[in-house]
Amino acid sequence: MNNIVIVGFMGAGKSTIARRLGKVLKQPVLDMDREIVKAEGMEINEIFAKKGEEYFRNLETNYLISLKEKENCIISTGGGTIIKEENRRLLKEIGVVVLLQASLATTYKRVANNDRRPLVNSQTNKKKYLINLFNSRKDLYNEIADIKIRINHKTVNMIGDEIIKKV
Ligand code: S3P
Repeated sequence: MNNIVIVGFMGAGKSTIARRLGKVLKQPVLDMDREIVKAEGMEINEIFAKKGEEYFRNLETNYLISLKEKENCIISTGGGTIIKEENRRLLKEIGVVVLLQASLATTYKRVANNDRRPLVNSQTNKKKYLINLFNSRKDLYNEIADIKIRINHKTVNMIGDEIIKKV
C-alpha cells in the first residue's frame, strides 16, 4: 500500500497537487480521469455524452479495483469518485486519503467556465447546480478523509508541503 489518494470536489486542484507530490516524493503519479480517457480513447465529456454517467461511474470502480495492486503511488481521483459506496470503500483500501477542501466561492470561480466538465456544463443554472452538488457531497468526502487540507489562499508548494508533513 503506502499510496496517497487525493480526493476533493471539482476544481480543488487534485491533479496539480498529485503531480507536485509525485515530483517531491519521487513517486509515480496516476490520474484517474486521464487513465480512463486513455483506456476508453474518449474525452470525459464524450464518455458522458455517448455512454452516460453510470457507465463512467463503473469505469471509475473498475479502475479503483486495479489500483489495489499498486504501491507507493500518488493517485488523483475524479471529484465524483466518492459517490458510490463501493468506491469509498475501495479508496480507503488503496491508501491514505487526503481531502483537498476549497470554499464554495473558490470552487465556483474555478469550475463554472471550464467546458471540460460535463456535469456542470450541461446545466442552465450552473451556480445553483454547483451549490447543490457541493453540499450534497460534503459529508461523503469527510467520511473517507484521513487528512483534510484547506487549500484557499495557499500555493501548490504550500499545500504539497502540508500534505507531506501529515501523511
Ligand atoms: C466529476 C469530476 C471530474 C470528472 C467528471 C465527473 C464529478 O473530475 O471525473 O467530469 O462528478 O465531480 P475533476 O474533479 O478532476 O474535475
